Amino acid sequence: MNKIINILKEKKSIPLDQFINISLYDKKFGYYMKKNPFGKDGDFITSPLISNLFGEMVAIWCVAFWEHMGKPKKILLVELGPGDGSLCKDLLRTFIQFKDFYNSLEINLLEISDLLKTIQKVKINNRKVKWIKKINEINCGPVIFLGNEFFDSLPIKQIYKKKKLFFEKYVALSNDNKKIRFLHKKANNSLIKRIQDLNLVSTGHVIEYPIKALKFLEVIAEKINEFDGGLLTFDYGYTETKNQNTLQSVKKHKYTNLFSIPHHSDITSHLNFKLFHKILKKNNLNVEKITNQNEFLRKIGILERANILSKKMTFKKKANMFYRLKRLMDYREMGSLFKVLFAQKKGRKFSLGF
Ligand SMILES: C[S@@+](CC[C@H](N)C(=O)[O-])C[C@H]1O[C@@H](n2cnc3c(N)ncnc32)[C@H](O)[C@@H]1O
Repeated sequence: MNKIINILKEKKSIPLDQFINISLYDKKFGYYMKKNPFGKDGDFITSPLISNLFGEMVAIWCVAFWEHMGKPKKILLVELGPGDGSLCKDLLRTFIQFKDFYNSLEINLLEISDLLKTIQKVKINNRKVKWIKKINEINCGPVIFLGNEFFDSLPIKQIYKKKKLFFEKYVALSNDNKKIRFLHKKANNSLIKRIQDLNLVSTGHVIEYPIKALKFLEVIAEKINEFDGGLLTFDYGYTETKNQNTLQSVKKHKYTNLFSIPHHSDITSHLNFKLFHKILKKNNLNVEKITNQNEFLRKIGILERANILSKKMTFKKKANMFYRLKRLMDYREMGSLFKVLFAQKKGRKFSLGF
């Protein structure tokens, strides 16, 4: 049974963001709802699964930010989309070494998939950690929002402009009902106004509108404004103005056609970091300059830490650790395509890693 096909048969067409949402997050058939997609035997791998040192560096950054905020007696860390729980587990392993911080700490995980929640519960197994359903549930702070590859997994709309007219990409079935295809419909006025207000308009190119991510950013900003704190996010993305189709689908570590196996392949898009920057500023936050993963990890001291660890390692272990670091940091791998953004409450000027 393929829910997408049935929906398309019934509704004839749906906007691209709805297609992505159903493909990935339908309660029963969604890609993230029925399998653990991470790791060598899955479909893709993320930084926390490549090396524990990633989580260790992020943990050090969190402790330093807490110190910058004056070591508040209570600090809430909210991880957005914790995947298989690897990052949270690594964070806790480091946090425990900073006693005062650890005693002040509470962690909330925001996860849409019940299956992944179960995997996280088994892996993390720590009473400091609770699961929340909505960011709106957060009612205390200061709060540090943390995400790795969260925003790039959220549904987007695609629009383009041709001869003064705007079209939105929809998804439909071919005439013989055998294939899924794009359909271009005239965009409605409220959507046109929204992308014009955001200055996303260009002629002839695809405009990507991260509708869901922007909603998240607004609630996150509201909470930071109310309770103090910040947002640190790592994602695939770009900082230059570029109207490009960045939508991609991945299966077994290889790119695949977006429409060939809905519900069975991951779908992501690259983040328009300039737009994120703009929205967070508009919502009154102070946004640090956007950096890349290589620079961020280097500035926290990942190479020094690796050198210390390597002194007690066998040659084989050492080689493995540095091979993994290369994957995280090489400019031809995740070092430059992955960007890091940090937004904090207005007036704060914490800049470690940037
Ligand atoms: C690409 S994975 C990244 C996982 C993990 N952060 C990592 O780096 O390995 C995206 C994660 O976000 C979760 N997610 C996606 N949309 C969500 C939403 N609206 N609310 C909560 N979690 C969501 C997914 O289930 C998954 O855990």
